[in-house]
This record gives sequence, structure tokens and C-alpha cells, in this order.
Amino acid sequence: MKVKWGVIGCGGIADRRTIPGMMLSDKVELVAVMDANMDVAEKCKEKYGAKYAFSNFEDVLAVSEIEAVYIASPVFFHKEQAIKAAKAKKHILLEKPVALTVAEAEEIKKACEENNVKISIGFLMRFHEYHQKIREIIAEGKIGNVVSMRGQFTCWYPDIEGAWRQKKALSGGGALVDMGIHVIDLMHYITGLKAVEVAAFNQTQTFGYEVDDSSNLIMKMDNGSVAYVDSNFNIPDAASVAKLEIYGTKGSIVASGTLAQDEVGTVSILISDDNAGYDASQSRGELSAVSLEKTSDGNMYTKEVEGLCDAITDNADVPVSIESAIYDQKIIEAAYKSSEEKRFVEVK
Ligand SMILES: NC(=O)c1ccc[n+]([C@@H]2O[C@H](COP(=O)([O-])OP(=O)(O)OC[C@H]3O[C@@H](n4cnc5c(N)ncnc54)[C@H](O)[C@@H]3O)[C@@H](O)[C@H]2O)c1
Repeated sequence: MKVKWGVIGCGGIADRRTIPGMMLSDKVELVAVMDANMDVAEKCKEKYGAKYAFSNFEDVLAVSEIEAVYIASPVFFHKEQAIKAAKAKKHILLEKPVALTVAEAEEIKKACEENNVKISIGFLMRFHEYHQKIREIIAEGKIGNVVSMRGQFTCWYPDIEGAWRQKKALSGGGALVDMGIHVIDLMHYITGLKAVEVAAFNQTQTFGYEVDDSSNLIMKMDNGSVAYVDSNFNIPDAASVAKLEIYGTKGSIVASGTLAQDEVGTVSILISDDNAGYDASQSRGELSAVSLEKTSDGNMYTKEVEGLCDAITDNADVPVSIESAIYDQKIIEAAYKSSEEKRFVEVK
């Protein structure tokens, strides 16, 4: 059974990734595309064979056959558009970050509950086969208790005239909320651990814009472990590593290049069968190294859209709950507060 979709915002991510991902699915029928720029909407309609192109958001909601909308507009439109979509009884796939603030995200959650519509958030990296396998390995206790994590996600993003991402009021922040939020979300998704306290340095070191081009965040997790998240807009793409490292009492998992828009990268797992006694030589000889092997050529965007299609048709849980995205947003807010006030901030 196909779910009938409307797309709100046909810019970078929608046109480059999510709509092509929708086209690969036999669970999706693309009915309408909308963009504030009518030329963009028209081009998108032609390219993907949608029935309607609009430049007015309300026109999408007025199409009664549309059951779900994918909202990929700039972040400062998310709250208004998601609440109006919920009131029009459309299910929602909403791009990350949910909204500008936790308070806005709570309002979206309330509107979805009151109108009985499903909402899933665009944390696509959860659908990477490797991240799901790492999650299983940790749940099985193979690396023991998690004691330390590190993640790094960067790109090169110089000053661009008029770019909404470079204005705090329009984006909610810079590298941390745009890039680092994926790492924060994955750490929670993969390990189940939640941050209780954070400290951060958010700075604009390199560029002229007002949002952070570099963010270094430390999170104290609820099992006592500590996680580090480095987010940068000022490291050349060619020099980016995109790493996720998880260390436990029985081993470690290091994923390189898996924080990406394709299911790529490598994962190296080291598990120690015998760490009972103290070894003064600190020999690494007893560790066995394993690399994960991919079993499918998945498309994370197809999977995130199909996850919501299944939740709609089977009345099942959505793949990425708004509650988990609100948790991510709380960390972001606490991290900006920590950096501004130069102190540790509790996450409640
Ligand atoms: N999950 C991911 O992989 C990923 C990657 C990039 C961006 N994103 C998220 O997607 C969203 C959009 O980011 P982007 O990079 O595609 O931005 P973008 O600037 O490339 O595209 C945004 C589009 O929205 C249009 N637009 C402007 N005002 C609008 C309105 N009121 N209603 C509808 N459309 C409007 C613009 O004309 C533009 O075409 C953001 O929330 C961003 O964080 C997610």
C-alpha cells in the first residue's frame, strides 16, 4: 500500500537525497512538491513526476489525498509548518533539528498528539546498517560497559551571503546544531545512554558569521561515562574524518566515515576475551580485531521514509520519535548555555 506524500522545501537535502530516496520505494507516491521559490518547485515536479507544484505551503495541506508531508524547509519554519500540518491531519517526517528550541519542539509534539498524527524526525544516520549492528553489539554486552565515547563530524562551510544557516535566529546555531546533533543522536540511539551534564566551547574561529564554526562538547552520561563531540564548519572536506568511537570495559568500536549521507565507511571492533587480571606490560596481544561487513546496499533516506510509511499503514511506532529528538535538542540548548555562561550545565 502506498502512502501519498507532499514535500515542503525542495532545496539541498530534499532534491539531493530524500526525494531520490522516496523514488526508490514502492511505498511512496509523490503527489505534491512545494518550495517558496516556484521555479524550484516546478523543476522538482518535472524531475520527479509529482502531480502538483506549489509555492504556498497551505496549498499542500489543502490537497485532501495527501496523507504525509516531508518538511525540509529552513529550521525557523519547522514549528509553524509542522503544527499546521498536524492540524490538517497530515503525518509528518520533519528534518532535524526539530525546531529552534526545546519549547518549540514541545509545541510540535503536543499538536501531533492532539491531532493524532505520527511524526518522525530526520535522523537518517540511525538507518546506516553499520550503526544498527554496532547498537546490537553493544546491547549484547560484547564490549562490556561503555566508559568513553568520541565523535567528530565536520565540513567546510565558509561565509555565504544570505545563508539562513549562518544566522542564529534562523538556524538555532552553527556546527553543533547542524552537524554535531547527528553524533549526539547516534550516541544515544546506539548505547541507550543519556547525558546528564554538559560542558562546551562553541566558537567562531575562522569565518565572519555569527554562529559557531567550531564546537567542542563534553557530556557526562547517566552511567558515569563521558562522551566528546567535535563539530566543525572550518575543516576542509578532504581533511574530514567523521569518526565515532565507543570504548568499553571489554573492547572498543571505531567507525570511520560512517557519519555520511551514503551507507559508507568502515568499522573496526576489538574485543578482549580476557581482561580479568592486571597486565603490567599492557600488551594488546589478546585482542581480536573484527571488521563489519555490509550485507546490503541500502539507502538511508528510503529507509527513513519507509519507516514512517510502515508506521502509518500498520499503526506502528515511528522510527525516530520526537521525544528522542527533544532529548537531542535539550543537549544542544545546554551546550550553548554552557559555552555562554562558562560553566557545566545539567540536562533535565
Ligand atoms: N538529514 C540530513 O541529511 C540533512 C542534510 C542537510 C540538511 N538537513 C536539514 O534539512 C532542512 C533543510 O536544509 P537544506 O540544506 O535542504 O536547506 P536549503 O537552504 O538547501 O533548502 C531549503 C529550501 O527551502 C525553501 N524554502 C524557504 N522558505 C520556505 C518555506 N517557508 N516553505 C518551504 N520551503 C521554503 C528554499 O527555497 C530552499 O529551496 C534543515 O532542517 C536541515 O537541517 C538534513
